[in-house]
This record gives sequence, structure tokens and C-alpha cells, in this order.
Amino acid sequence: MALLDTGAPPTAARGIERMRAPLDRARHVPGSIYTSPDVLAREKEVLFMKDWLMVCREEEVEKPGDFMTFRILGEPVVVTRDQGGTLRAFANVCLHRGVEVAVGAGNTKEFMCPYHGWLYDLEGKLVGAPYMKEAEGFDPRTCRLPPLRLATWGGCIFICFDPATPPFEVAAADWIRELSFLYPERCRLSKKIVLDLDCNWKFLIENVMDMYHAHTLHGASFGKHTSYDGLNVKLFKNGGVRSDYASGPLAPEGKTLFGKLPWLADKPDHFALFSYMQPNTYLVCRVDQVRILITWPEGPGKCRGLMYSLFPKEHFAEPDFWERADKYHAYLAYVLGEDSDMVRSLQRGMTARAFAPGPMAPLEMAIHHFMNAYLDRMFGAAA
Ligand code: FES
Ligand SMILES: [Fe+2]
Repeated sequence: MALLDTGAPPTAARGIERMRAPLDRARHVPGSIYTSPDVLAREKEVLFMKDWLMVCREEEVEKPGDFMTFRILGEPVVVTRDQGGTLRAFANVCLHRGVEVAVGAGNTKEFMCPYHGWLYDLEGKLVGAPYMKEAEGFDPRTCRLPPLRLATWGGCIFICFDPATPPFEVAAADWIRELSFLYPERCRLSKKIVLDLDCNWKFLIENVMDMYHAHTLHGASFGKHTSYDGLNVKLFKNGGVRSDYASGPLAPEGKTLFGKLPWLADKPDHFALFSYMQPNTYLVCRVDQVRILITWPEGPGKCRGLMYSLFPKEHFAEPDFWERADKYHAYLAYVLGEDSDMVRSLQRGMTARAFAPGPMAPLEMAIHHFMNAYLDRMFGAAA
């Protein structure tokens, strides 16, 4: 295994070699990949501070002055829409002593740092700094909150910390090419489900691409109307994946309450798809709905998932829209509950003395691809 010039791999990388074998001989990675603080620190630098990260939907910051704040592996960020309607992202770090200038989410005309009152406009420019006239060499007019790169696709907002990373259109070329026919920008957020889980963030990623568990864990819910036949998996560079399969709408008995998405009218009733873009963005689709999942590490053994349920904009005006949509939300929450129990149990397994990584199943092809690309970036390409 080659070493990255950023330093030798942490000891946590011991035992990853068998994941490097072709799928039919591969084994899962050791527990340390999911429990080590060293691994998480490296993930921050190698993945999260480099890649485009989905942070929210455009409709969550719809009006001028709307803003949302985030803490991304300890990095405070604010996303806002300025008075001209342009979306912007900044480091949410006061230029005086580093306090977060924006708090929570809401609508504002400017951001006033809650500590000493420095004032920033919606473009991040410092427009007021009380009692600072005598400070030598300090010209507020030249100061602004550090801007972060921002891109939108499908009604989703992405940010990037690294100025050297290729533009979103280049970095996400596979994703854009493979998924634009789903038109998530024609949909609107109906419900955001927050999952705070005692598990490593990668378990949430792997769980969604794990087709192998659908018939067992979800045997009493959507597994009943999910087929492994016709599974069509496309592997993207950098560990991304798109998989088409057959599954019914995520509503009781797998029966749609809305009909097909108008732009998927030619797809079969059991059209289903998931796609992953490293490191934190998923799209999951049925013939009548698009869902998006974003995942944030909150510590080696903790993560937060945000599941966005989206429906076509035109449905929202229908009189019984919420009654029907809430049936989907309840069903989704039930399925996510099934998954949540498993990812927590997976995490407990990683520190169990008896655990030794077992062989991979052919249906775990996407996990094998994801994990090998992850290991390449984290610890250097396989020899
Ligand atoms: S830390 Fe923001 S004004 Fe002092
Ligand atoms: Fe699942």
C-alpha cells in the first residue's frame, strides 16, 4: 500500500487489506475504521474539507435575508440569501474574536455578532465595528467574513471549503449526468427527518447502499415489494454509485397516493433508484417521490442524518396533500427506525472483542466500491 505524502496511515488502517481484494474474496474492514478519532480527524482533512458537501435545500433559504447555520466537523458556516437573491456561504466566524455571528436559522437584514456587536451585511461585509475608530491600521471597509464556495443543483445547496477543488459541475459530473432526469428542483420539501445516531457516519452511508438487508430487516415493510432482480449498479469514480432496482412507493402496501412523478410517466410502477456522491449526499427515488439524505459525522461513534422528503411542487396546493404526505412521512420514519436500530448495533459490534470482519456478499457491491475508494483517499491507493 502506498503512503500519502500527508503522513503514514494511522494504526487504525491495519487490517484493511482484505477489503482491497475483488468482491468475491473481499472482507469488511476492521472496527477501528469506525471507532478511531485519528480516522475521523483524517476524514475531515481528506474528505470533508475538500469535497462539495450538500448542506440544505434552496427552499430552506427562500427569501432575501433567510439564513441557516451549520457546524461541519467543528467549522461554523452560515448560508444566506442576500437582498439581491444571491445565495452565499461564509465561515460563521467573527473577524474580531471568532464568535459565531449568526445563530440558528431565520431571517435577518444583517448579522450582528452577539459578543461586541460587530455588524456584517448579507454579503458578509463588515459594515460596523463599535468603538474601533482609534484602532490603528484597522479599516472595516476591507473586511469580510471568509466566503466559501457555493453551488446549486436540483434545488440543493452545496458548499466547498477548498478553493482548489474542481467546480461542482466537474466534481459532480457523474451525479449530474445520471440524476438530472429526476428533476429534484421541480419538487419541494415536505418533511425533514433528523436522525441523531450512535454510530459512525459511514454506517449510515453503507446502510443505504446495502441492498442485501432489504428482504430481512425490512421484510415486513418495503422489503415485501422490493426485488433484487434487475439490479443495475453503476459505479462512479471516487466511490459514488447509482443503482436502479425494483421497489414500490414508500407508502403503505407500496401503493402510490400521488401517482407517478409527471417526468417519470414512462417508468414502471416499481421504479426505484439510489445514488451516492461522496462524501455526504444521497438521492433515493421511487416512481412518485424523491428523497435526499445528507450525513454528518458528529464524532467517531456519532452521526446526524437529515432525510429530506420531496414531492412535486404542484401537489402542495391539493386540499388533502398533507394527509397523504404524512402517510409517507410515517412510513419513512418507521423504515428509518428499522435501519437506526441496525446501524447502532453495527457500531456496538465494532468494539466487541469477538468481532472479526466477515466476507462480503455479492449484493454488497456498492459498499465494496465505496469503501475501496474511501481507503484510496484516506490511506493511499492499493498496491
Ligand atoms: S467576537 Fe465578534 S464582535 Fe467581538
Ligand atoms: Fe434499510
